[in-house]
Amino acid sequence: MSELNIGLIGSGSISESHLQAYRANPRAKLLAICDINEERARNMAGKYDIPHVYTDYRDLLANSDVQAVSICTWNNSHAVISIDALEAGKQVLCEKPLCITVDEALQMQQAVERTGNLLQVGYVRRHASNIAVLKKFIDAGDLGGIYFAKASLIRRLGNPGGWFADKARSGGGPLIDIGVHVIDLCWYLMGRPKVKSVSGNIYAKLGNRSNIENYAFYQAADYDASFNTVEDMANALIRFENGASLMVDVSFSLHAKQNSALVNIYGDKGGAEIEPALSIVTERHNTILNIDPQITSPGFDFQGGFQNEIDHFVASCLDGIPPISPVEDGVEMIKILNAIYESAAEGREIHF
Ligand SMILES: NC(=O)c1ccc[n+]([C@@H]2O[C@H](COP(=O)([O-])OP(=O)(O)OC[C@H]3O[C@@H](n4cnc5c(N)ncnc54)[C@H](O)[C@@H]3O)[C@@H](O)[C@H]2O)c1
Repeated sequence: MSELNIGLIGSGSISESHLQAYRANPRAKLLAICDINEERARNMAGKYDIPHVYTDYRDLLANSDVQAVSICTWNNSHAVISIDALEAGKQVLCEKPLCITVDEALQMQQAVERTGNLLQVGYVRRHASNIAVLKKFIDAGDLGGIYFAKASLIRRLGNPGGWFADKARSGGGPLIDIGVHVIDLCWYLMGRPKVKSVSGNIYAKLGNRSNIENYAFYQAADYDASFNTVEDMANALIRFENGASLMVDVSFSLHAKQNSALVNIYGDKGGAEIEPALSIVTERHNTILNIDPQITSPGFDFQGGFQNEIDHFVASCLDGIPPISPVEDGVEMIKILNAIYESAAEGREIHF
């Protein structure tokens, strides 16, 4: 097999990053697209020259020429569409988060095992070029054993509204939407240790801050200032069986002076700052060294990350390379995220 026929389901904002990357991959052919919003699907089909357009994903899956699908729909439909796609014999790239509930996640894992088809979770940050650089240092032992990580993504006014603000469709707010990226990235770089316990706090104090004037922020296509059922901010401490720990705090709304992004990992031989830009810290001859790798994208290169992710998916499908982010890693993250919500609701630490 030299070319992979692609179907894309959910032609909203992030679908363009998938479509651009498939278009740039010489071994991928965009064959079909689907959205419940027909106009959106037709516009994207026109822009990317995609011959088959559907409004029901089951019709796209019935097209036997489609070999692999990208699922870019609301979080509440990731599980059902992925399982149906796997059963229809397609390989699947499912956007993050894998799904909403642990039950769904386990059903998705079972579908992968039952069908023998592939499911790659859309953890785009694992595919960033600065992470590939850092991974070489970690794998060579330059950081030693990583025992602490800290991830913080603070938006002071950044609830996108629309389905993102509807817990029934999103599964939650900043924790499941943006927290998933950085918790996964730290967990991956720490060597995917087994979780021992999770303690979390969830706050809904400021709402979506739709009262704020004179300050622009991203709004989903169906933004509704009057509707919001998700948390404003979350923080958590995740303990691992090997003694390592991960602290995380994320927000859509917070009285913070500015937006900020920070992802740091610390080992017994060295540390690394990943956000906002890659920097490695170590010591030599009793002197502390801050090493700034001279690379094209020291920070997260958004479209470059998607290109690497899609190239890896296409190679996994055609050449049988095991996925960097298999379904099991999606399942583990859904367990962690749900444990944080559960810990916050019950006011206690959750033991795995
Ligand atoms: N990896 C990243 O960095 C990243 C960034 C943004 C969004 N995402 C993820 O991508 C997904 C989509 O987010 P978005 O920002 O593009 O949202 P969006 O609202 O812009 O697009 C979602 C599209 O899915 C369509 N849709 C919903 N249910 C459908 C169904 N059953 N069948 C067909 N189409 C359906 C909607 O009509 C909409 O056009 C979410 O899971 C989100 O978490 C990932």
